[in-house]
Amino acid sequence: MSVIENSKVTVVGAGSVGSSVAYAALIRGSARHVALYDIATEKAEAEVLDLAHGTQFTGSSDIVGGSDISVIEGSHVVVITAGAKQKPGQTRIELAGVNAGILRSMMPQLLSVAPNAIYVVVTNPCDVLTVLAQEATGLPPEQIFASGTVLDTSRLRWLLARRAGVSTSSVHAYIVGEHGDTEFPLWSHATIGTVPILDWVPLDGQPKFTADELDQIAVDVRDAAYKVIQGKGATNYAIGLSSARIVEAILNDEHAVMPVSPVLHDFHGVDGVALSVPSIVSATGAVPIRETQFSVSELGLFRRSADALRDVATSLRG
Ligand code: 2OP
Repeated sequence: MSVIENSKVTVVGAGSVGSSVAYAALIRGSARHVALYDIATEKAEAEVLDLAHGTQFTGSSDIVGGSDISVIEGSHVVVITAGAKQKPGQTRIELAGVNAGILRSMMPQLLSVAPNAIYVVVTNPCDVLTVLAQEATGLPPEQIFASGTVLDTSRLRWLLARRAGVSTSSVHAYIVGEHGDTEFPLWSHATIGTVPILDWVPLDGQPKFTADELDQIAVDVRDAAYKVIQGKGATNYAIGLSSARIVEAILNDEHAVMPVSPVLHDFHGVDGVALSVPSIVSATGAVPIRETQFSVSELGLFRRSADALRDVATSLRG
């Protein structure tokens, strides 16, 4: 349970992602109070009821919610999931226009009831929407950031751990950049335990990783959401768990290193773009770690990711 007495997280959007975030937060005990808000009254109230009916089996967290904006009052963290989701084969960037409009209309209302909350943008394209929301609200960059590649990093660590024969928590590797098609692994700093990834000898006697194999793993991570969406229409469980974990780092004031996506300023030559880089996540929000090292090729990929997202944000400013 969080270090904040009576901690509260509100999830905005009661769709498959939002209700999964709320579900994960309840099960993990991410906050003392979990609220679920959606303008669709019947949907919001039904999701809250369904979650509440299971609270005998969760920890001490409780769940409230509905379509009245007052639901959000007193939130320490607000997780924004409202908006259109990818259809099979659709890119996250293709959602930018419609979801930017939803976010623009929603932010003033959220700030009117929760001006001091930390805002975590999950709605896609989360990086671009974070830039637009930060500009529109004037919030300090650390107070509003995207969940970014926390989820992609979890996908990467799962694939590497399974191949290496170790616990996922022993894989130290990050996906950085866009939460999307230009994301990439920071292989230059990827280790299993203290062993560089290419030097690791898999525990089951399989051969070591090859560079080509790592390239394929990077592609599998980048395309993971497309595969899941093709099969079941959406992704929700892993983004729900990833978001709940981010909420905990904030509410517990953990100062945890996580690849979330704040708007960067003068960061390795990138300015005014939100991209995932290892950041310190605490009760005050997310601060990118300036000492993060990139190889020459990684820096090129990072700046390519920035250029792609800068163009999208520019096109949405009208
Ligand atoms: C995901 O990566 C769709 O952004 C969502 O699962």
